[in-house]
Amino acid sequence: MSEVEADQPPVLEAQDLHKSYAISRTPREVVRGISLQVRRGEFFAVMGPSGCGKSTLLHILGGLSQPTTGRVRIQGQDLYELSDRELTAFRRNRIGFIFQFFNLLPSLTAAENVMLPYRLERERVWPLRGLGRDRDARQRAEEVMNLLGLRGLQGHRPDEIAGGEQQRVAVARALVADPAVVLADEPTGTLDYHGGRAVLELLLRLSRQDQRTIVMVTHDVRTAAYAERVAIMVDGEIRETVELGRRSVHDTAPLLERLSAHGL
Ligand SMILES: Nc1ncnc2c1ncn2[C@@H]1O[C@H](COP(=O)(O)OP(=O)(O)O)[C@@H](O)[C@H]1O
Ligand SMILES: [Mg+2]
Repeated sequence: MSEVEADQPPVLEAQDLHKSYAISRTPREVVRGISLQVRRGEFFAVMGPSGCGKSTLLHILGGLSQPTTGRVRIQGQDLYELSDRELTAFRRNRIGFIFQFFNLLPSLTAAENVMLPYRLERERVWPLRGLGRDRDARQRAEEVMNLLGLRGLQGHRPDEIAGGEQQRVAVARALVADPAVVLADEPTGTLDYHGGRAVLELLLRLSRQDQRTIVMVTHDVRTAAYAERVAIMVDGEIRETVELGRRSVHDTAPLLERLSAHGL
């Protein structure tokens, strides 16, 4: 158990998730009975080899893909009891996504990319507030970008800035609507060592300073070692959850030891 808000209900809770895909008509179960709970401010990682079902799990946790059976609750709300419209709104407000390939729109500037989810949501809520809405979004984007050390990059397009900076822009976009939960899928996957470390330090800061709840999936042990708790996933199941705690040095030894116990 983490010491973080141990007495509060979990921000994110998954109960006995299963997911099957029909692959050439034969159903194949890629998530096989996963339950987990993540508390507010916790940095939680799911680590496992490529193909074990991590992205599928993360998409289910974020309301992007319905499980075959099982439940997901975020701040007590059962995601898959919501209508499509409600779920879309819930995702925009409460969940921030960070992907391996950043998924920035190439024709928009960094600031416009960051503003996008915020704008989409406000448009839905206040369809008639033209100018004010835009100024609001721009201000909020600027605020978040400054916090993440992206001052001065607002007007640049994604192909004009380095990979590490692109991913920080993607982190800013994930945070712009002030979500309760940030879900990150191999967020350092395409970055070099320094770029990757900067993104991990940023996620760490978000959890420790802002009490932001982070769930990250990765195949990389050095990346997972930044988290406070690491679930080891093999073949669609969580085999063990390793409690690392809030450390200042992110050595991999305790994780490697557990991985080898699972034959990984
Ligand atoms: N939409 C899909 N349709 C069919 N099979 C899929 C789909 N998405 C993922 N899979 C399969 O499910 C398994 C788990 O994939 P994924 O969740 O992407 O694993 P990971 O992220 O751990 O690499 C893989 O064998 C993959 O080919
Ligand atoms: Mg994946």
